[in-house]
Amino acid sequence: MKSYQIAVLEGDGIGPEIVGEAVKVLKKAGERFGFNVELTRALLGGAAIDETGVPLPEETVTVCKAADAVLLGAVGGPKWDSQPGANRPEKGLLGIRKALNLYANLRPAVIFAPLRDASPLKPEIIGESMDILIVRELTGGIYFGEHTTGEENGVPAAWDVEKYSLPEIERIARVAFAMAQKRNKRLCSVDKSNVLDTSRLWRKTVTEMAKEYPDVEVTHMYVDNCAMQLVRNPAQFDVIVTSNMFGDILSDEASMISGSIGMLASASLGDSGFGLYEPIHGSAPDIAGQNVANPLATILSVAMMLRYSLDEPAAADAIEAACAKALETARTPDIYTPDCGAAKVTCTEMGDLVTKLL
Ligand code: IPM
Ligand code: MG
Repeated sequence: MKSYQIAVLEGDGIGPEIVGEAVKVLKKAGERFGFNVELTRALLGGAAIDETGVPLPEETVTVCKAADAVLLGAVGGPKWDSQPGANRPEKGLLGIRKALNLYANLRPAVIFAPLRDASPLKPEIIGESMDILIVRELTGGIYFGEHTTGEENGVPAAWDVEKYSLPEIERIARVAFAMAQKRNKRLCSVDKSNVLDTSRLWRKTVTEMAKEYPDVEVTHMYVDNCAMQLVRNPAQFDVIVTSNMFGDILSDEASMISGSIGMLASASLGDSGFGLYEPIHGSAPDIAGQNVANPLATILSVAMMLRYSLDEPAAADAIEAACAKALETARTPDIYTPDCGAAKVTCTEMGDLVTKLL
């Protein structure tokens, strides 16, 4: 039987709870589709700081590199807020993305039919459906430029550098063009080229590359306009490609349109089939340990893992279908309303239901 090595980084806050449910679903998918999974756990974020003093121990990088794919929960929490910037839990997350060269972050924002009422947008604005793929650059830009806290003219000052090289823009744009070709062949490149030099290079590069992809219709949009268009007419978007920070912000916005940030999965890919899979939401320390978190974003991240890293597309489809089915009868508190026609369930119950429906 095929066997896949999966590195599991639960992280902090609700991380262990949501990853626990996602692992249940992954194992059940293995039973049904005939593969075995071998899990190796490793530390990341605050949990790693507590054990080892640093948010990304060398051992964690080694474990991830030896695996076929990585499943990650979330990192961070108030407990580590007093850590210096260079040793915060978030540094562990950024560090593992960088160490594994996972420069392409795919964040699909879709509305599951049963959740149409959970979206804060009016039905006439959502239209038929919403199915957007945000392709976020993940290992460059202001996240990885020089960060300085110092002084200027005798007063405290701080600055962060946004830098993109041509090859960095080209490689993320290639991923986005390829995704658009497999979808509805529309690519919107989002920048702030009316202000930023990095954005001007970004726009020029994407414009040049568009000639190689005549089947893809390319448009450009300023990020402020995009933030507005997402809530005005989300159906206009197919694939969005953008920088690290703009992608961070726009994907949170898009997630809310789909009903809850607890619904959005993500895949972080490099040049090989290897990838890291994580929900886009954070560690939600306020609800950690209460068994009320929504595990669906992590479960849907497992589906992406099966599709992009493990070449098990049938299992991926089945998990997505089971999640959609589960939403017809069950909702975690983030997507529950008294008139939604479904029962309010816990994190564990949602995981069990998806497993059963698979
Ligand atoms: C995300 C998160 C991270 C990011 C944080 C936790 C560092 O917001 O994955 O979107 O900004 O990339
Ligand atoms: Mg974010």
